[in-house]
Amino acid sequence: MKLQIVPIQIDTVAPGKPSPFDLFDQGGYLLLEKGQAVTAQVFDLAHKRKLYSVSYEWSELTGPKRLVGFKDSQLGESPLRHIRYDSNLIRIDYLKQALPILVSSLQELEKCHGFPGFSWLDNHDRHTYIHSLNVALLATIIGIYMGYGIKELAYLASGAVLHDWGKLLVPREILNKPSALSPEEFQLIKSHPVRGELVLRDEGWPDEVLRVIREHHERWGGQGYPNGLRESEIHPNAQIVAVADVFDALTEDRPYKVGLAPYHALEMILNGSGSSYAPEVVRALRSCVLLYPEHSTVTLSSGETGVVIALDPVLPTRPVVRIMADRQGRPVRGEKIMDLRENRTLAVSAITFDSNRRSHPGFTSGI
Ligand SMILES: [Fe+2]
Repeated sequence: MKLQIVPIQIDTVAPGKPSPFDLFDQGGYLLLEKGQAVTAQVFDLAHKRKLYSVSYEWSELTGPKRLVGFKDSQLGESPLRHIRYDSNLIRIDYLKQALPILVSSLQELEKCHGFPGFSWLDNHDRHTYIHSLNVALLATIIGIYMGYGIKELAYLASGAVLHDWGKLLVPREILNKPSALSPEEFQLIKSHPVRGELVLRDEGWPDEVLRVIREHHERWGGQGYPNGLRESEIHPNAQIVAVADVFDALTEDRPYKVGLAPYHALEMILNGSGSSYAPEVVRALRSCVLLYPEHSTVTLSSGETGVVIALDPVLPTRPVVRIMADRQGRPVRGEKIMDLRENRTLAVSAITFDSNRRSHPGFTSGI
C-alpha cells in the first residue's frame, strides 16, 4: 500500500471553492471532504501549512468505491443507481453477491401482472422510493449472510422493495410533513402496512412478499403494529426488513433531521437486539456493515489516534490505521501504520469521526 501525507499547496485550494482533496489537520482529523466548499478557517490552515491531504492507493483490500460489478453505463436507467450504500459501508463480498440478485428481482417485478411499475412510487414520493431500494439492498445482504437460497432471496428482495407500497395511499404532504403529525395523520401513516398488503393481495402476490409488507413494523417483543406479533410469529423476511428499514431510516438525511452516523445507528440497533429486533438478524447486519469506514478517525486501545486507511472484508473489525497522534495527543511525525490484522494485542476503543457523516463534532462512543 502506498501512502503519503503531504501539506496542501496554498494554490490548490481557494475559499468558497470545492476542495480537490480530503483535507486533514495536523492531528489527522478530517476537516473537509473532497468536493466541499473550503471555509475561511480551513484556508487559513493551508496558508500556515497546517493542512494536509492523505493520498494512498485504495489497495486490493477495499476495491472500487461505487456499486461493485456495475459500470455506470450498465446501471443506465436502473433504479439501482439511486442506492446510497457502497463498498465504503457494506462488505464488498456481500455487495458483489447481492446486486445481481436485486437486479433480476427488480426486472421480474416489472414484468409481473398487476404491478404498476416503480415510477408510480417514484412519482408519488421520491423519498419512499429511494428508501425502498436501499432497504432492498440491505435486506438482500442480510439474507445472503443468513444463508438464504436464490429463490428465497428473490422473495425477500421483492418484499423489501415493496414494503412501503401502502404509502402510495397516504397523501405525500402527510408523508413529508416536517412538523408534528396530528393523531389522525399519524394513524393514516400507520395504516400503510395493512393497506399495502390489501392492495397487492388482490394481485395474487405470494405470502413471502405480502407478509413483509404487513409485518415490517412488528417488533420482536410484541410492541409493534398492526397486530402486536412477537418473535417467531413475525415472518422471517419481515424480521429482516424491519432491521434494514430502521437502519436506513436512522442514517438518512431528511429535511427535518440529519441522519445518524452508520456506526451510531448500528449501535442503537444492537441495543434493541432481543427486545425490538430479531437477534439473529442484528448479528447479520453487524457482520455485513463495516464498523470503521475508510477515513474514520479512531482511537486505539494504546491511546493513539489514527485514520482508517484500509479495511479487509474478511476481518472487518481489524482495520489498517495510519497513526496521527500519540497517546498524549501529540502529532506523530513520519509514517506510522498500525495493521490491526497483524497486531492482535491492539483494538479500536472508540471512533471519533465517522467519514460517512460530514461532521460529528465531539461525537465519541466506545465500542
Ligand atoms: Fe413502513
